[in-house]
Amino acid sequence: MKYKFLVLSAMMIIALSGCASDINLPQPQKNGGMSLMEALSKRKSTREFNSEKRLTDQQLADLLWAACGLNREDKLTIPTALNKQEVSIYVIVPEGAYIYDAKSNALNVVNAKDIRELAGKQEFAQKALLNIAIVSDKEKMPNDLYAGTSAGAVMQNIYLWCAANEVGTVTRGSFDEDALADALRLNENQRIILVQTVGY
Ligand SMILES: Cc1cc2nc3c(=O)[nH]c(=O)nc-3n(C[C@H](O)[C@H](O)[C@H](O)COP(=O)(O)O)c2cc1C
Repeated sequence: MKYKFLVLSAMMIIALSGCASDINLPQPQKNGGMSLMEALSKRKSTREFNSEKRLTDQQLADLLWAACGLNREDKLTIPTALNKQEVSIYVIVPEGAYIYDAKSNALNVVNAKDIRELAGKQEFAQKALLNIAIVSDKEKMPNDLYAGTSAGAVMQNIYLWCAANEVGTVTRGSFDEDALADALRLNENQRIILVQTVGY
């Protein structure tokens, strides 16, 4: 009886604490794919997303690497002024929110709750299975223009990966910055510049 109670309590604690845990991503696949010129021809914004079909882990790993991964020992797929590397990307999915760790090729949990309703003011964004918040750190890069430039480079990398892989996307400036920053556990130096919805 006592044993049963302990097992039940443990199960309840696990259920209540949410099921999000850190994720080791597959190695990104860097070969093949559509030509750059073709991807540029297909780049566009879409605002209708399938509520069931998700990207595979391999696609997510490839997308995040393209967005802002390491393409050399310690440098990124985007340029940053003075190589300050002030951008972080956060992944918002039904299981919770994660920060992308490019060095470890992993997603580390920042919030184990479903925070999708904070991902944007537009309804499709709140229901989408994947949103990516592009966040800049003022302490690393105080110049807002340069911070915006880096975020724009991430944004376009996401657009191009999506175009090349026939996945839909739209970047968005419409979201409640304070509420989302809170849910992503950002510090006072971090600023969300864009949130990009990705999916089928
Ligand atoms: C900085 C920025 C903010 C944007 N914010 C939004 C937004 O909040 N909601 C939205 O639906 N689209 C947003 N967009 C997408 C634009 O509306 C879209 O890029 C534009 O209409 C051109 O369409 P295209 O991307 O298909 O060429 C934004 C784009 C940029 C660059």
